Amino acid sequence: MRTYIADIVNNEGKKVELTGWVNIRRDHGKIIFIDLRDKSGMCQVVFISKPADVYEKATKLRSEWVVKISGQVNKRPANMVNPDIITGEYELLADGLEIINEAKTPPFDLQTDGYEIGEDVRMKYRYLDLRRPRMKRILENRFKTIKFMRDFLADKGFTEVETPVLGKSTPEGARDYLVPSRVYPGNFYALPQSPQQYKQLLMVAGLEKYFQVVKCFRDEDTRGDRQPEFTQLDIEMSFTSEEEVLSLIEELYLSLVKKLYPEKKLKLDKYGKIIRMPYKEAMEKYNSDKPDIRDDKNDPNELAFLFVVDFPMFEWKETEKRWDAVHHPFTMPKVDGVEDFKNKFKADPAAIQAFQYDFVLNGYEIAGGSIRIHDPALLQSVFEAMGNKPADVKEKFGHMLEAFEYGVPPHGGIAPGIDRFVMIMENAPNIREVIAFPKTGDGRDLMMGAPSDVDKKQLAELKLEIKKKK
Ligand code: AMO
Repeated sequence: MRTYIADIVNNEGKKVELTGWVNIRRDHGKIIFIDLRDKSGMCQVVFISKPADVYEKATKLRSEWVVKISGQVNKRPANMVNPDIITGEYELLADGLEIINEAKTPPFDLQTDGYEIGEDVRMKYRYLDLRRPRMKRILENRFKTIKFMRDFLADKGFTEVETPVLGKSTPEGARDYLVPSRVYPGNFYALPQSPQQYKQLLMVAGLEKYFQVVKCFRDEDTRGDRQPEFTQLDIEMSFTSEEEVLSLIEELYLSLVKKLYPEKKLKLDKYGKIIRMPYKEAMEKYNSDKPDIRDDKNDPNELAFLFVVDFPMFEWKETEKRWDAVHHPFTMPKVDGVEDFKNKFKADPAAIQAFQYDFVLNGYEIAGGSIRIHDPALLQSVFEAMGNKPADVKEKFGHMLEAFEYGVPPHGGIAPGIDRFVMIMENAPNIREVIAFPKTGDGRDLMMGAPSDVDKKQLAELKLEIKKKK
């Protein structure tokens, strides 16, 4: 039976069978050393001249070949101990070798952190790129982060609910990815920019405490901290308040950092709490709604969390000549009912504040959320204030307005971006480093070759025609 490499430390003197990849082969005259690698770690394997057939096979081994090796676990002589690896006091004296698969020479060095290699080639061979220990560590820590989040919320009585990927366009400010319907030619699903409307409908359904680790899709230009598809920890609660949402997030992140990243230094206020700053102060002092308030920006271990609160409800969209929601139209403005809203909007739209908050870390927006409107008449008024005609409102958001007529609780929530957070915690230079299979800066998957042409037959089934490229 197979033993994991990290486990050889518990098997001194015993016969074991290891499997994995040859990291490196070194020949020292009559002795051959290889470093063998598996998921759990690395160890040294020694081939001596006997058995002769095993030795002979070992002379052929090359880096990245896949092998099964049997032998005895021995302690290394004191002067040969390698303190850099956990198995460094031990080695395997091989007596059997099976070459499971040979491997071509990889197109780049797998022993380094990879930063010196062109990103295009790293992405094309991502399955090799992910073999480097740095990438493995990031994926492990990303998993631990998500597991911590899930366990934390489950312990607090939240239920994870999956929502559709094939849905209807929901306004989060970006362009939608559309999926053509075969059954209803000319009609399209939209991939969710976020599950915003679904989670609010789950509040109507009486779930009260929802979360979901969920993929979101936004057709916008990629950047160092942006991907067309990314992962949110989406959260929504009923009968809640801004204070309750912020306290929950504060407890989640402070306990997560303490458990998973104890080496990090936290910048907190004098009560040991996350600093809060009104939007207006952030703009006046830092000219940014996501200021980096670290004391020492060169310290990779300093974490300066910040809650930015009291956002304005609306901003003027010059291109469309209309007022648009700063967050999204479901956000609760600080008004006293529909009449008060209409009066305040008439007087000065820019002066209306919202129950909206952003969560910032070292100058990056790592979450955004708000308390939502739960009065259908107010929601209708906000849609109309944003330039929607009543008929458009019905067409785009009729399902929400209708649902809100069946007993909607007050509710609110937040959605942390997981990729961005892991990027900061891992001191990664961009978000692509913390996603197993990211898109390149220009939105392509170079490994799979997406996006790509599709069969004429597929287009015909969808009743789609591609305009001739000029
Ligand atoms: P918002 O649009 O602010 O809010 O998104 C929440 C968080 O998601 C992350 N994020 C991204 N991460 C990587 N690539 C992207 N393209 C990208 N876009 C957003 C950010 C951001 O703070 N439904 C609301 C939340 C709510 O109101 O509850 C929403 O999606 O970290």
